[in-house]
Amino acid sequence: MTHTSSLKVLVTGGAGYIASHTLIELIEDGHDPVVLDNFANSVPQALARVQAITGRDIPLERADIRDADALASVFATHKPDAVIHFAGLKAVAESSTDPVAYYDNNVSGTITLLASMDKAQCRQIIFSSSATVYGDANYLPIDEDHPVAPVNPYGRTKLFIEYILADWQAANAGSGAVILRYFNPVGAHASAMIGEDPKGVPNNLLPYVAQVAIGRRRELSVFGNDYDTRDGTGLRDYIHVVDLARAHVAALNYGAAHPGVETINVGTGHGATVLELVAAFKAASGRDIPYRITGRRHGDTAASLADTSKATRLLGWQATHDLTDMCTSSWAWQSANPNGFTNS
Ligand code: NAD
Ligand code: WQD
Repeated sequence: MTHTSSLKVLVTGGAGYIASHTLIELIEDGHDPVVLDNFANSVPQALARVQAITGRDIPLERADIRDADALASVFATHKPDAVIHFAGLKAVAESSTDPVAYYDNNVSGTITLLASMDKAQCRQIIFSSSATVYGDANYLPIDEDHPVAPVNPYGRTKLFIEYILADWQAANAGSGAVILRYFNPVGAHASAMIGEDPKGVPNNLLPYVAQVAIGRRRELSVFGNDYDTRDGTGLRDYIHVVDLARAHVAALNYGAAHPGVETINVGTGHGATVLELVAAFKAASGRDIPYRITGRRHGDTAASLADTSKATRLLGWQATHDLTDMCTSSWAWQSANPNGFTNS
Protein backbone atom coordinates (compact mmCIF):
# COMPACT_ATOMS: atom_id res chain seq x y z
CA MET A 1 0.00 0.00 0.00
CA THR A 2 1.30 3.48 -0.88
CA HIS A 3 1.81 5.38 2.35
CA THR A 4 0.55 8.91 2.69
CA SER A 5 0.55 11.48 5.43
CA SER A 6 -2.65 12.12 7.34
CA LEU A 7 -5.45 13.42 5.14
CA LYS A 8 -8.60 15.27 6.15
CA VAL A 9 -11.33 13.31 4.41
CA LEU A 10 -14.94 14.34 3.88
CA VAL A 11 -16.99 11.14 3.94
CA THR A 12 -20.40 11.68 2.29
CA GLY A 13 -23.02 9.19 3.42
CA GLY A 14 -20.69 8.59 6.35
CA ALA A 15 -23.29 7.02 8.65
CA GLY A 16 -24.20 4.31 6.14
CA TYR A 17 -23.26 0.66 6.13
CA ILE A 18 -20.03 0.70 4.12
CA ALA A 19 -18.96 4.20 5.16
CA SER A 20 -19.26 3.48 8.90
CA HIS A 21 -16.82 0.58 8.50
CA THR A 22 -14.55 2.75 6.36
CA LEU A 23 -14.35 5.44 9.07
CA ILE A 24 -12.70 2.92 11.39
CA GLU A 25 -10.09 1.88 8.82
CA LEU A 26 -9.38 5.52 7.91
CA ILE A 27 -8.71 6.36 11.54
CA GLU A 28 -6.56 3.25 11.97
CA ASP A 29 -4.49 4.38 8.99
CA GLY A 30 -3.95 7.83 10.55
CA HIS A 31 -6.50 9.82 8.55
CA ASP A 32 -8.94 12.38 9.84
CA PRO A 33 -12.55 11.84 8.67
CA VAL A 34 -15.47 14.27 8.74
CA VAL A 35 -18.95 12.86 8.11
CA LEU A 36 -21.69 14.40 6.00
CA ASP A 37 -25.05 12.62 5.93
CA ASN A 38 -28.73 13.51 5.65
CA PHE A 39 -29.73 10.24 7.39
CA ALA A 40 -32.03 9.28 4.52
CA ASN A 41 -31.01 5.65 5.04
CA SER A 42 -29.04 5.59 8.29
CA VAL A 43 -29.14 6.66 11.92
CA PRO A 44 -26.79 8.77 14.07
CA GLN A 45 -26.38 5.78 16.43
CA ALA A 46 -24.09 4.21 13.84
CA LEU A 47 -21.66 7.10 14.26
CA ALA A 48 -21.89 6.96 18.04
CA ARG A 49 -20.85 3.31 17.78
CA VAL A 50 -17.92 4.14 15.49
CA GLN A 51 -16.79 6.78 17.99
CA ALA A 52 -17.02 4.20 20.79
CA ILE A 53 -14.98 1.68 18.76
CA THR A 54 -12.28 4.16 17.75
CA GLY A 55 -12.28 6.38 20.84
CA ARG A 56 -12.33 9.39 18.51
CA ASP A 57 -14.69 12.31 18.01
CA ILE A 58 -15.76 12.43 14.39
CA PRO A 59 -17.25 15.76 13.29
CA LEU A 60 -20.74 15.34 11.82
CA GLU A 61 -22.42 17.63 9.32
CA ARG A 62 -26.11 16.81 8.88
CA ALA A 63 -26.62 17.95 5.31
CA ASP A 64 -27.72 16.85 1.86
CA ILE A 65 -25.20 16.61 -0.96
CA ARG A 66 -27.68 18.44 -3.21
CA ASP A 67 -27.54 21.54 -0.96
CA ALA A 68 -24.82 23.76 -2.45
CA ASP A 69 -24.95 26.32 0.37
CA ALA A 70 -24.55 23.63 3.02
CA LEU A 71 -21.64 22.10 1.10
CA ALA A 72 -19.91 25.48 0.74
CA SER A 73 -20.04 25.89 4.49
CA VAL A 74 -18.80 22.31 5.12
CA PHE A 75 -15.82 22.80 2.78
CA ALA A 76 -15.03 26.20 4.32
CA THR A 77 -15.17 24.82 7.85
CA HIS A 78 -13.22 21.58 7.37
CA LYS A 79 -11.05 22.21 4.28
CA PRO A 80 -10.88 18.51 3.35
CA ASP A 81 -7.97 17.22 1.25
CA ALA A 82 -10.17 14.53 -0.30
CA VAL A 83 -13.74 13.25 -0.49
CA ILE A 84 -14.91 9.67 -0.22
CA HIS A 85 -18.33 9.79 -1.82
CA PHE A 86 -20.72 7.10 -0.55
CA ALA A 87 -23.93 9.18 -0.36
CA GLY A 88 -26.64 7.93 -2.64
CA LEU A 89 -29.78 5.86 -2.93
CA LYS A 90 -29.25 2.17 -3.68
CA ALA A 91 -32.52 0.23 -3.81
CA VAL A 92 -32.62 -1.32 -7.27
CA ALA A 93 -36.39 -1.95 -7.47
CA GLU A 94 -37.23 1.51 -6.12
CA SER A 95 -35.00 3.07 -8.78
CA SER A 96 -37.40 1.73 -11.44
CA THR A 97 -40.52 3.05 -9.73
CA ASP A 98 -38.98 6.44 -8.85
CA PRO A 99 -36.13 7.01 -11.32
CA VAL A 100 -36.20 10.80 -10.99
CA ALA A 101 -35.43 10.54 -7.27
CA TYR A 102 -32.42 8.37 -8.12
CA TYR A 103 -31.10 10.67 -10.85
CA ASP A 104 -31.66 13.66 -8.58
CA ASN A 105 -30.03 12.19 -5.48
CA ASN A 106 -27.19 10.31 -7.11
CA VAL A 107 -26.37 12.23 -10.30
CA SER A 108 -27.43 15.79 -9.39
CA GLY A 109 -26.04 15.28 -5.90
CA THR A 110 -22.65 14.31 -7.31
CA ILE A 111 -22.64 17.32 -9.67
CA THR A 112 -23.35 19.66 -6.74
CA LEU A 113 -20.60 17.94 -4.75
CA LEU A 114 -18.06 18.33 -7.58
CA ALA A 115 -18.97 22.00 -8.06
CA SER A 116 -18.39 22.53 -4.34
CA MET A 117 -15.08 20.69 -4.52
CA ASP A 118 -14.03 22.94 -7.42
CA LYS A 119 -14.87 26.09 -5.47
CA ALA A 120 -12.91 24.80 -2.48
CA GLN A 121 -10.01 23.54 -4.65
CA CYS A 122 -10.47 20.02 -3.31
CA ARG A 123 -8.98 17.79 -5.97
CA GLN A 124 -9.34 14.17 -4.92
CA ILE A 125 -12.39 11.91 -4.86
CA ILE A 126 -13.04 8.21 -4.28
CA PHE A 127 -16.42 7.07 -5.58
CA SER A 128 -18.71 4.15 -4.64
CA SER A 129 -19.64 2.57 -7.93
CA SER A 130 -21.01 -0.92 -8.41
CA ALA A 131 -20.47 -4.09 -10.40
CA THR A 132 -24.07 -3.53 -11.44
CA VAL A 133 -22.69 -1.27 -14.22
CA TYR A 134 -21.57 -4.42 -16.07
CA GLY A 135 -25.10 -5.84 -16.41
CA ASP A 136 -25.19 -9.46 -17.61
CA ALA A 137 -21.65 -10.86 -17.72
CA ASN A 138 -20.31 -11.74 -21.19
CA TYR A 139 -17.44 -13.61 -19.52
CA LEU A 140 -16.14 -14.41 -16.04
CA PRO A 141 -14.31 -13.21 -14.08
CA ILE A 142 -15.31 -9.66 -14.97
CA ASP A 143 -12.38 -7.29 -15.50
CA GLU A 144 -12.64 -3.51 -15.72
CA ASP A 145 -12.59 -3.62 -19.55
CA HIS A 146 -15.77 -5.70 -19.63
CA PRO A 147 -18.50 -3.76 -21.51
CA VAL A 148 -20.85 -1.72 -19.34
CA ALA A 149 -24.62 -2.19 -19.77
CA PRO A 150 -26.57 -1.50 -16.57
CA VAL A 151 -30.10 -2.92 -16.59
CA ASN A 152 -31.84 -0.55 -14.16
CA PRO A 153 -31.95 3.19 -13.35
CA TYR A 154 -29.83 2.70 -10.20
CA GLY A 155 -27.05 1.14 -12.25
CA ARG A 156 -27.34 3.89 -14.85
CA THR A 157 -26.91 6.57 -12.17
CA LYS A 158 -23.61 4.89 -11.20
CA LEU A 159 -22.41 4.73 -14.80
CA PHE A 160 -23.36 8.35 -15.55
CA ILE A 161 -21.49 9.46 -12.43
CA GLU A 162 -18.44 7.50 -13.60
CA TYR A 163 -18.52 9.43 -16.90
CA ILE A 164 -18.98 12.75 -15.09
CA LEU A 165 -16.02 12.00 -12.82
CA ALA A 166 -13.80 11.14 -15.79
CA ASP A 167 -14.71 14.44 -17.49
CA TRP A 168 -14.19 16.37 -14.23
CA GLN A 169 -10.79 14.79 -13.73
CA ALA A 170 -9.71 15.47 -17.33
CA ALA A 171 -10.59 19.15 -16.96
CA ASN A 172 -8.72 19.60 -13.68
CA ALA A 173 -4.98 19.05 -13.99
CA GLY A 174 -3.58 17.39 -10.89
CA SER A 175 -6.94 16.06 -9.73
CA GLY A 176 -7.66 12.43 -8.98
CA ALA A 177 -10.72 10.18 -9.12
CA VAL A 178 -10.67 6.54 -8.04
CA ILE A 179 -13.88 4.74 -9.00
CA LEU A 180 -14.41 1.56 -7.00
CA ARG A 181 -16.84 -0.96 -8.46
CA TYR A 182 -17.99 -3.01 -5.49
CA PHE A 183 -19.25 -6.53 -5.99
CA ASN A 184 -21.52 -7.79 -3.13
CA PRO A 185 -20.56 -6.25 0.25
CA VAL A 186 -21.63 -8.28 3.31
CA GLY A 187 -20.56 -8.93 6.91
CA ALA A 188 -19.86 -6.65 9.84
CA HIS A 189 -17.08 -5.22 11.99
CA ALA A 190 -15.42 -7.65 14.41
CA SER A 191 -16.73 -5.65 17.39
CA ALA A 192 -20.32 -6.60 16.37
CA MET A 193 -21.20 -2.97 17.22
CA ILE A 194 -21.87 -1.86 13.65
CA GLY A 195 -23.28 -3.71 10.66
CA GLU A 196 -25.91 -3.62 7.97
CA ASP A 197 -29.29 -2.44 9.26
CA PRO A 198 -31.71 -2.24 6.34
CA LYS A 199 -35.03 -0.45 6.78
CA GLY A 200 -38.05 -2.67 6.16
CA VAL A 201 -37.77 -5.92 4.22
CA PRO A 202 -34.15 -6.44 3.15
CA ASN A 203 -33.56 -6.29 -0.62
CA ASN A 204 -30.31 -8.23 -0.40
CA LEU A 205 -29.65 -11.86 0.32
CA LEU A 206 -27.40 -11.84 3.36
CA PRO A 207 -29.39 -9.45 5.58
CA TYR A 208 -32.52 -11.41 4.66
CA VAL A 209 -30.85 -14.69 5.65
CA ALA A 210 -29.65 -13.11 8.92
CA GLN A 211 -33.21 -11.99 9.73
CA VAL A 212 -34.53 -15.50 9.04
CA ALA A 213 -31.85 -16.92 11.34
CA ILE A 214 -32.81 -14.55 14.17
CA GLY A 215 -36.52 -15.29 13.69
CA ARG A 216 -37.62 -11.90 12.31
CA ARG A 217 -38.66 -13.55 9.00
CA ARG A 218 -40.16 -16.99 8.48
CA GLU A 219 -38.27 -18.27 5.43
CA LEU A 220 -36.02 -17.22 2.60
CA SER A 221 -37.28 -17.16 -0.97
CA VAL A 222 -34.53 -18.46 -3.23
CA PHE A 223 -35.01 -16.62 -6.51
CA GLY A 224 -34.62 -19.42 -9.04
CA ASN A 225 -32.65 -22.68 -9.19
CA ASP A 226 -32.48 -23.02 -12.97
CA TYR A 227 -29.46 -20.81 -13.65
CA ASP A 228 -26.34 -22.13 -15.34
CA THR A 229 -24.34 -22.36 -12.08
CA ARG A 230 -23.02 -25.19 -9.83
CA ASP A 231 -26.40 -25.78 -8.15
CA GLY A 232 -28.69 -23.67 -10.33
CA THR A 233 -28.94 -20.72 -7.89
CA GLY A 234 -27.39 -17.31 -8.52
CA LEU A 235 -23.64 -16.98 -7.94
CA ARG A 236 -22.11 -13.77 -6.56
CA ASP A 237 -18.75 -12.44 -5.41
CA TYR A 238 -19.45 -11.59 -1.76
CA ILE A 239 -16.87 -9.32 -0.17
CA HIS A 240 -16.41 -8.66 3.56
CA VAL A 241 -17.23 -5.04 4.34
CA VAL A 242 -14.01 -4.64 6.35
CA ASP A 243 -11.97 -5.70 3.30
CA LEU A 244 -13.99 -3.25 1.23
CA ALA A 245 -13.38 -0.51 3.81
CA ARG A 246 -9.62 -1.17 3.59
CA ALA A 247 -9.81 -0.91 -0.20
CA HIS A 248 -11.02 2.68 0.27
CA VAL A 249 -8.03 3.52 2.43
CA ALA A 250 -5.74 1.98 -0.20
CA ALA A 251 -7.54 3.96 -2.93
CA LEU A 252 -7.23 7.18 -0.94
CA ASN A 253 -3.50 6.68 -0.44
CA TYR A 254 -3.07 5.71 -4.10
CA GLY A 255 -5.08 8.71 -5.34
CA ALA A 256 -3.08 11.13 -3.21
CA ALA A 257 0.08 10.02 -5.03
CA HIS A 258 -1.34 9.45 -8.53
CA PRO A 259 -3.45 12.11 -10.25
CA GLY A 260 -5.72 10.74 -12.98
CA VAL A 261 -8.77 8.51 -13.10
CA GLU A 262 -8.80 4.80 -12.34
CA THR A 263 -11.71 2.39 -12.24
CA ILE A 264 -11.10 -0.63 -10.04
CA ASN A 265 -13.13 -3.75 -9.18
CA VAL A 266 -13.40 -4.60 -5.50
CA GLY A 267 -14.31 -8.24 -4.89
CA THR A 268 -12.62 -11.45 -3.83
CA GLY A 269 -12.55 -13.36 -7.13
CA HIS A 270 -14.38 -16.23 -5.38
CA GLY A 271 -18.08 -16.84 -5.82
CA ALA A 272 -20.80 -18.45 -3.74
CA THR A 273 -24.26 -19.56 -4.83
CA VAL A 274 -27.39 -18.72 -2.84
CA LEU A 275 -27.50 -22.27 -1.42
CA GLU A 276 -23.78 -22.19 -0.54
CA LEU A 277 -24.30 -18.93 1.32
CA VAL A 278 -27.30 -20.36 3.17
CA ALA A 279 -25.23 -23.41 4.20
CA ALA A 280 -22.34 -21.19 5.36
CA PHE A 281 -24.70 -19.01 7.39
CA LYS A 282 -26.35 -22.04 8.94
CA ALA A 283 -22.95 -23.34 10.03
CA ALA A 284 -21.87 -19.92 11.37
CA SER A 285 -25.08 -19.31 13.33
CA GLY A 286 -26.10 -22.81 14.35
CA ARG A 287 -29.62 -21.78 13.31
CA ASP A 288 -31.86 -23.38 10.76
CA ILE A 289 -32.55 -21.27 7.65
CA PRO A 290 -35.83 -22.48 6.13
CA TYR A 291 -36.08 -21.64 2.44
CA ARG A 292 -38.32 -22.15 -0.53
CA ILE A 293 -37.38 -22.05 -4.20
CA THR A 294 -39.46 -19.42 -6.01
CA GLY A 295 -39.28 -17.93 -9.50
CA ARG A 296 -36.39 -15.83 -10.74
CA ARG A 297 -36.29 -12.19 -9.66
CA HIS A 298 -36.70 -9.82 -12.62
CA GLY A 299 -33.39 -8.32 -13.74
CA ASP A 300 -31.19 -10.87 -11.93
CA THR A 301 -28.10 -12.25 -13.60
CA ALA A 302 -26.88 -15.86 -13.24
CA ALA A 303 -23.34 -15.20 -12.09
CA SER A 304 -21.06 -12.30 -11.18
CA LEU A 305 -17.42 -12.64 -10.22
CA ALA A 306 -14.63 -10.05 -10.06
CA ASP A 307 -11.24 -10.11 -11.68
CA THR A 308 -9.37 -8.43 -8.82
CA SER A 309 -5.92 -8.23 -10.39
CA LYS A 310 -6.07 -4.46 -11.00
CA ALA A 311 -6.82 -3.77 -7.33
CA THR A 312 -3.85 -5.89 -6.33
CA ARG A 313 -1.56 -4.31 -8.93
CA LEU A 314 -2.46 -0.65 -8.35
CA LEU A 315 -3.56 -0.57 -4.73
CA GLY A 316 -1.56 -3.43 -3.26
CA TRP A 317 -4.89 -4.50 -1.81
CA GLN A 318 -6.46 -7.91 -1.63
CA ALA A 319 -9.38 -9.37 0.32
CA THR A 320 -8.40 -11.40 3.39
CA HIS A 321 -11.79 -12.57 4.71
CA ASP A 322 -13.62 -15.66 3.43
CA LEU A 323 -17.31 -16.58 3.32
CA THR A 324 -17.17 -18.07 6.82
CA ASP A 325 -15.81 -14.77 8.22
CA MET A 326 -18.56 -12.89 6.39
CA CYS A 327 -21.32 -15.08 7.85
CA THR A 328 -19.79 -15.28 11.34
CA SER A 329 -19.41 -11.49 11.63
CA SER A 330 -22.86 -10.87 10.18
CA TRP A 331 -24.38 -13.30 12.70
CA ALA A 332 -22.46 -11.75 15.60
CA TRP A 333 -23.83 -8.30 14.65
CA GLN A 334 -27.37 -9.62 14.05
CA SER A 335 -27.56 -11.64 17.26
CA ALA A 336 -26.12 -8.86 19.42
CA ASN A 337 -28.46 -6.31 17.79
CA PRO A 338 -31.61 -8.22 16.75
CA ASN A 339 -33.36 -5.00 15.76
CA GLY A 340 -30.33 -3.24 14.36
CA PHE A 341 -29.30 0.13 15.81
CA THR A 342 -32.70 0.91 17.30
CA ASN A 343 -34.03 -0.77 20.45
CA SER A 344 -30.95 -2.90 20.82
P1 NAD B 1 -26.28 3.08 2.83
O1 NAD B 1 -27.66 3.45 2.39
O2 NAD B 1 -26.12 2.37 4.12
O3 NAD B 1 -25.36 4.40 2.87
C1 NAD B 1 -25.61 5.53 2.08
C2 NAD B 1 -25.61 6.75 2.99
O4 NAD B 1 -25.80 7.91 2.21
C3 NAD B 1 -26.73 6.71 4.03
O5 NAD B 1 -26.18 7.00 5.30
C4 NAD B 1 -27.69 7.80 3.58
O6 NAD B 1 -28.38 8.39 4.66
C5 NAD B 1 -26.74 8.75 2.88
N1 NAD B 1 -27.36 9.59 1.85
C6 NAD B 1 -28.17 9.19 0.84
N2 NAD B 1 -28.53 10.25 0.09
C7 NAD B 1 -27.91 11.34 0.63
C8 NAD B 1 -27.87 12.71 0.31
N3 NAD B 1 -28.57 13.19 -0.74
N4 NAD B 1 -27.12 13.55 1.06
C9 NAD B 1 -26.43 13.07 2.13
N5 NAD B 1 -26.43 11.77 2.48
C10 NAD B 1 -27.16 10.92 1.74
O7 NAD B 1 -25.63 2.25 1.63
P2 NAD B 1 -24.27 1.44 1.54
O8 NAD B 1 -24.62 0.02 1.29
O9 NAD B 1 -23.37 1.79 2.65
O10 NAD B 1 -23.72 2.02 0.17
C11 NAD B 1 -22.84 3.13 0.12
C12 NAD B 1 -22.57 3.46 -1.34
O11 NAD B 1 -22.05 2.31 -2.00
C13 NAD B 1 -23.82 3.86 -2.13
O12 NAD B 1 -23.46 4.88 -3.04
C14 NAD B 1 -24.19 2.60 -2.87
O13 NAD B 1 -24.88 2.88 -4.07
C15 NAD B 1 -22.82 2.01 -3.15
N6 NAD B 1 -22.83 0.55 -3.34
C16 NAD B 1 -23.41 -0.26 -2.40
C17 NAD B 1 -23.45 -1.63 -2.60
C18 NAD B 1 -24.12 -2.55 -1.62
O14 NAD B 1 -24.48 -3.67 -2.00
N7 NAD B 1 -24.31 -2.15 -0.37
C19 NAD B 1 -22.87 -2.18 -3.76
C20 NAD B 1 -22.27 -1.32 -4.68
C21 NAD B 1 -22.26 0.05 -4.46
C1 WQD C 1 -27.74 -12.01 -4.41
C2 WQD C 1 -28.28 -13.36 -4.90
C3 WQD C 1 -30.48 -13.23 -5.83
C4 WQD C 1 -32.49 -12.11 -2.09
C5 WQD C 1 -27.51 -6.13 -5.55
C6 WQD C 1 -27.64 -4.96 -6.48
C7 WQD C 1 -26.28 -4.46 -6.87
C8 WQD C 1 -25.41 -4.19 -5.65
C9 WQD C 1 -25.40 -5.33 -4.70
C10 WQD C 1 -25.57 -1.89 -5.07
C11 WQD C 1 -29.01 -13.27 -6.24
C12 WQD C 1 -30.49 -14.07 -4.58
C13 WQD C 1 -31.55 -12.45 -3.05
C14 WQD C 1 -33.45 -13.08 -1.68
C15 WQD C 1 -32.46 -14.65 -3.20
N1 WQD C 1 -25.90 -3.07 -4.90
N2 WQD C 1 -31.54 -13.70 -3.60
N3 WQD C 1 -33.38 -14.32 -2.25
O1 WQD C 1 -28.74 -8.68 -6.84
O2 WQD C 1 -26.34 -9.50 -6.79
O3 WQD C 1 -26.84 -7.18 -6.22
O4 WQD C 1 -26.74 -5.74 -4.40
O5 WQD C 1 -24.85 -1.43 -5.92
O6 WQD C 1 -26.50 -3.31 -7.61
O7 WQD C 1 -28.35 -5.35 -7.63
O8 WQD C 1 -27.49 -8.93 -4.64
O9 WQD C 1 -28.04 -9.73 -2.40
O10 WQD C 1 -29.92 -8.90 -3.88
O11 WQD C 1 -28.79 -11.06 -4.43
O12 WQD C 1 -32.44 -15.79 -3.69
O13 WQD C 1 -34.33 -12.83 -0.84
O14 WQD C 1 -29.27 -13.81 -3.96
O15 WQD C 1 -31.34 -13.76 -6.82
O16 WQD C 1 -28.73 -14.46 -6.93
P1 WQD C 1 -27.41 -8.65 -6.23
P2 WQD C 1 -28.61 -9.60 -3.75
